[in-house]
Formats: sequence, structure tokens, C-alpha cells
Amino acid sequence: MKEPFVIVILAAGQGTRFKSKQAKVLHRAGGRPLIEHTVRAARELPAEAIFVVVGYQADEVTAAVKAIPGPMPGTGVQFIRQESPLGTGHALRCGRRELESAASHLLVLCGDTPLLTARTLRRFLEFHLRSGTAAAVLTAEVEDPAGYGRIVRGSGSSITAIVEHKSASPKQLRIREINTGIYCFRNRSLFAELDRLAPDPITKEYYLTDVIGLLHGRGRKVVAYQAPDPAEVMGVNTRVELAQVEQVLRAQKARELMLAGVTLLRPETVLIDPDVEVGPDTVIEPGVALLGRTRVGEGCRIGACSVITDSDLAAGVTVRPSCVIAESRIATGAMIGPFAHLRPGNWIGPDARIGNFVEVKKTRVGRGSKASHLTYLGDATIGDEVNIGAGTITVNYDGEKKHPTVIEDRAFIGSGTELIAPVRVGRNAFVAAGSTIHEEVPPGALAIARARQVSKPGWVLERKKKTGKKKPSP
Ligand code: UD1
Ligand code: CA
Repeated sequence: MKEPFVIVILAAGQGTRFKSKQAKVLHRAGGRPLIEHTVRAARELPAEAIFVVVGYQADEVTAAVKAIPGPMPGTGVQFIRQESPLGTGHALRCGRRELESAASHLLVLCGDTPLLTARTLRRFLEFHLRSGTAAAVLTAEVEDPAGYGRIVRGSGSSITAIVEHKSASPKQLRIREINTGIYCFRNRSLFAELDRLAPDPITKEYYLTDVIGLLHGRGRKVVAYQAPDPAEVMGVNTRVELAQVEQVLRAQKARELMLAGVTLLRPETVLIDPDVEVGPDTVIEPGVALLGRTRVGEGCRIGACSVITDSDLAAGVTVRPSCVIAESRIATGAMIGPFAHLRPGNWIGPDARIGNFVEVKKTRVGRGSKASHLTYLGDATIGDEVNIGAGTITVNYDGEKKHPTVIEDRAFIGSGTELIAPVRVGRNAFVAAGSTIHEEVPPGALAIARARQVSKPGWVLERKKKTGKKKPSP
């Protein structure tokens, strides 16, 4: 592309039809805020600069754009303020100072078309530059044009006007070619007409779409470029459309993984965020969510309905159904769940086993160690080949501070033990079931810390006699 151009993304509206306090462009689809999808597509083009028009929740939208990882072109993304949402035409007027002198061409995008690809944008821009006209509109032929602006065609590829749905005549409502909200303008032509825009009589908004009619009225040519795939230019105006876009984006990611050798038993049921990596020959059962920066190695199995966030699973890890795992690292051969809860900060060693109804937090579990049932391990460092019996609790919190528990290699912790931290259990030590341990257990020692059992022979029958019943009830 020889001629310099800048990109401007409109993202100042609240999104009335979303019925949300949160700005529409901050709602997420495919694991990213809507605005991020547009910015990512935009930055693949060789623009001189990218501007985002912000207004409603401007600080939050600005922060969401700044948080997008990866390089931005030139000076990064710049922001234009539209203090009151007086329409798409008004939004561009607010950027006059920055945009007018920036380059001779302007590519206008909307923050609510997340499926649009850089490839389509590039072709559209090339078409505009080649046509040498005042403006080009990216259009699409759709089955259901309701809500969109309609394209009124002139001769050849030219357009005479865009009529908004609300203002369209019955005949115009039947037009199935719609305005995608994406335009290329020759800057000089655009800013000359923006000043002449009048507010819409019904909504009082200044419509950017009216610029097309104004240009035509002045004898300037405006052309249409039809998007090859209408699905790509879908605007998200309601939560119904948000759900449709979400489905498309999730399906794209699922397909990408399947083609890379991952088995998805029911691909339409999983939620896999865009930055998640999964190795080949891993099997993902229905209803799984892999979120954030999660990485799953080769040959793993992720059980149904498990939710894994920002975690790292080595090759050959098994996660059985219904586990919740966050910010944890799991080494090869480990087996987790079903119904395990790994809160942030764990390292689960090779071949370790975290079983059902076990909660683990900020804990290191050594190679081959097992906590198979009904246990809480918090702030603990557990060596290799340790056995943690059912119902073990690290009592790590005294109401003010958290304290560490250390369990050394090959120690055996009997069922129903409470380990009152800070405390250490030495190598090869044996803690008897039902103990409450609050002092260090030396290596190789037996610790038994429970009340001695008392059995009173005949006690039950004695009591029944006293209370007058003949036989103890079964
Ligand atoms: C717009 C077009 C319509 C087109 C449709 C495609 C106008 C008048 N209509 O309608 O022809 O078919 O997009 O999706 O342009 N925005 C601002 N400031 C404002 C108003 C909106 O920045 O004052 C931003 C919004 O945040 C959004 C974008 O502009 O990202 C489009 O606004 P929206 O209200 O969704 O326009 P539509 O009614 O969909
Ligand atoms: Ca829209």
C-alpha cells in the first residue's frame, strides 16, 4: 500500500441495546474484550497510526486497549475523546485535530465487529486506494438485514446513500445489502462533509452514514466493496449476537486445536481461550474450560467440566472430571481429581496424586506423593513419596497469619490428622491416624497425639436398664 493511511476505531458508545452498565466494547467474546479483536485486526495493517475514539467508560476502554499484549505499530494506539455520544459522525468530528492532518486516507472501523479479519480489511483498503474515489463502504449481503443501515445503489459499483433502518422506507427495508460500519475516506472529502452533517430528526445523532449521501450530492463518487464472507462483518448489538460471535470464535479455536492433533470429544461444549496451548494426543472431554495462559502438554486427558486457568500441565497429566485448577503447575504423570480444587500457587510433582475433595493452595507436592481423599493442604511443602491420609488438614491459619507445614520425604500421615502450622514432620516419620500434631516430628519417629480410647464393657445394657427399656434398639 503506497499511500499513507490511518485507522480510527469507533468505541465511544455505551451500546444501548446491550442493556448493560458496562460499555459494550468491554464485553468479552472468545476470551477477549470486543475492542481487542478490532485492534488486533487493525494492527496487522501498515497504518501510520491507530486511533480509538473513547467516550462511555473511556478510562476502562483505554485500559483494555493498552493491556493488549504484543507490538503496536508506530506510536502505539492513540485515543480521541468523544465527551457525549452524539453519533458516529460526531465521533469522527471529535478527532478532527488528530485525524485531518495525519494522512490522506482514513480507514474507519467499529469496536463491535469482532469477527472481521485483517485480510478483508487489507483487500478493502486496496480496493479504495485503487478506485481513487472519495469514499468506499464495506458492505455485505445478509439474510436478515434488520437493524443495519441499507445500501442504496447507483450505477455500477457506486452508492448514492446509506439509509438507517429506523429511517428506511418499506421498499428500502427490503434491501439486503447492508452497511458494515466500515469505511475508507479520502480525508479531505470526509472532513469537508462532516461539518455539514445535520442531526437525525428522530435520534438527534450525527450519522456518519449521512456523509455518503452528502458526498453523492456533491457529485463525488462513493463505491461499495462487498465483503466476501458476510459472517465476518457481523456487528454485536445485543447479547444474542454476542453469544453467536462467542460461538464462532470458540469454534475457530477448537478447530485449530483439532487440526493440531488434539481430540475434543464434544468441541461445541468447550471454552478454550485464544492464548491456550494444548499438545497433540491430549483428549479433552465435554464441558471443559481452558482459560487465560493455560498450557497443556502432550498426551494429557482433561476430564469433563474441569475449569483450568493460567496453569501449566506437563505431558501425560490426567485431570479427572469436575476439577477447578488455577495458577498451578502440574508435572508429568500426575493425576488430579475428580472434584479436586487447586487454588493458586501449587506445584504438583511427577506422578503425584491429588484425589477427590482435596483442596490445595500454595503447596508443593513432591514426586509420587499422594493425597487421595478429603484433605486441605495450604502453605505446605511436601517431599517425595509422602502419603497423606484421608481427612488430613494443614491448620495453616491462626486468624491473623498463615503458617507453613513441612512434610519430608516418605513420611506417612494417618487419616484424620490435623497439622497445626508452623510444624515439620521429618523423613520417614509416621503420624498415627487422628493425631493433632503441633510439635516437630523427628525423622523416623512415630507420633501419636490423640486421647487414649476408653471402652466400658456392658455400658449400653446398663443404661437401658436404668431408663427402663428392655432391649437396646438396633
Ligand atoms: C452503525 C451504522 C449502520 C451499520 C452498523 C453496522 C451509523 C449511523 N449506522 O449502526 O449503518 O449498518 O453500524 O454495524 O453509523 N459510536 C461512537 N460514538 C457514538 C455512537 C457510536 O463511538 O456517538 C461507536 C460505537 O461504540 C460502536 C460503533 O460506533 O462501536 C457503531 O455504533 P452503533 O451504535 O453500534 O451503530 P449501529 O446502530 O450498529
Ligand atoms: Ca453496531
